[in-house]
Amino acid sequence: MRIVNIAIDGPSGAGKSTIARAVAKAEGYIYIDTGALYRAIALYALRGTVDPGDSAAVEEMLKGIRVELAFRDGEQRVLLNGEDVSDLIRTPEVSMAASAFSALPPVRAFLLSLQRDIAAQNSCIMDGRDIATVVLPNADVKIFLTASPEERARRRYEELIARGQQVTYEEILADQKKRDYDDSHRAAAPLKQAEDAVLVDTTDKDFEASVALIRSVIHKRLTREEKESPPAEKKSPREKVRYNFKKFTTHAFYLIAMPFTFLTCKLLYRVTYIGRENVPKKGKLIIAANHISGWDPVFVGSAMVRVIHAMAKEEIFHNWFVKAVVTGLNAFPVSRGSGDRRAFEYALGLLERDKVLGIFPEGTRSKDYRPGRAKSGIALIAAATGADIVPVAIWSGGKPVRAFRTHVVVEFGPVIHNGELGLTDGKKASELRSATRKIMDRIEEMWEKIDENYSR
Ligand code: DC
Repeated sequence: MRIVNIAIDGPSGAGKSTIARAVAKAEGYIYIDTGALYRAIALYALRGTVDPGDSAAVEEMLKGIRVELAFRDGEQRVLLNGEDVSDLIRTPEVSMAASAFSALPPVRAFLLSLQRDIAAQNSCIMDGRDIATVVLPNADVKIFLTASPEERARRRYEELIARGQQVTYEEILADQKKRDYDDSHRAAAPLKQAEDAVLVDTTDKDFEASVALIRSVIHKRLTREEKESPPAEKKSPREKVRYNFKKFTTHAFYLIAMPFTFLTCKLLYRVTYIGRENVPKKGKLIIAANHISGWDPVFVGSAMVRVIHAMAKEEIFHNWFVKAVVTGLNAFPVSRGSGDRRAFEYALGLLERDKVLGIFPEGTRSKDYRPGRAKSGIALIAAATGADIVPVAIWSGGKPVRAFRTHVVVEFGPVIHNGELGLTDGKKASELRSATRKIMDRIEEMWEKIDENYSR
């Protein structure tokens, strides 16, 4: 079975340990609290009154320490030279000392291989400060879990009071702010969000909602990874044969069906294709067409030399026959109007693998059979992937598309390079709107030209 590593980092008191423990239990992973390792070292240092500023003493101290993790009833226990110190390390003094000692490079180096070894042998959720950035930079899922300082202090305070400790909220908040500052400003492996980590803020979320959110982040990431990665090292030989057969038949269906549909389009609709040479032969690409009829994906797909994966509205997948055909033709469902994250992630996965994505930016067929207003989804995908766009105009003379009677013209325009869209970070709504407008304007210009040339 494949080993899955999930990294959860974040400041103290963000609820990492309770949330990560519950997620691990629900998902069947072991949970590793790496803070406990630093705490065990801090406890040892406090007992021997070792000063974190005395580097020779720290080096010497590490020689006498053996830290191990054991699991009792699925719960992590920390053993310091064989002694179970799991409960003794949860005091405010140990918290402060752990923060000081964790800033020291020899201490971090001392614990690094222990953490990596555990992750190499177990599917686990590991929480800490530098898991995604240093310990497991290749983790399958990376999450940065945080909450406001006041909310984190409130949670910690309640936890300590419930354990019978004498503390005040003010003390906890002040300690926490200092630790936050120290943990994120230290030179060695400071606390920071990894670039590819998903940010989860639990300030306004209760425990259940946070657990559910993190589980869904994990599922999405892992499903996406599953779709993108080659089957070789993950599947048994039997599964591999089945996978390859399915891939082959789907591909074969596509390759056989498309010439037929091409002919059908030609026979039923008198389709004229223009500019097919404008489609680049390789690399990630978005094909964006206006939408006038249910036949559009076929008009566009059958004219393409490259295999196209079209986003299609979810409703058509409800009919088993249509579903079988369109899935065979590589379409995938998108639920409209709800910002479908799954479809979005799927689209990103395709483009990351240099495939061709087909989109009708308007989302729905236009009532007057000419290009209309589009949503910004296409610009969001372009911003996230850097893919270029081939605009496609589908023209039927402003009339409904009817078999044997309608002349359809499908024109593939010159490539719109991603850089021309003026997208900087892909988050500004105004930028996304203007990029979408640029694409639709190009389609409309082509459509008007076709209309001039072919209408009579
Ligand atoms: O998560 P915690 O509060 O139990 O962690 C105790 C201290 O250890 C905290 O101040 C930060 C530090 N730590 C770290 O530097 N790197 C980790 N991976 C985990 C904890």
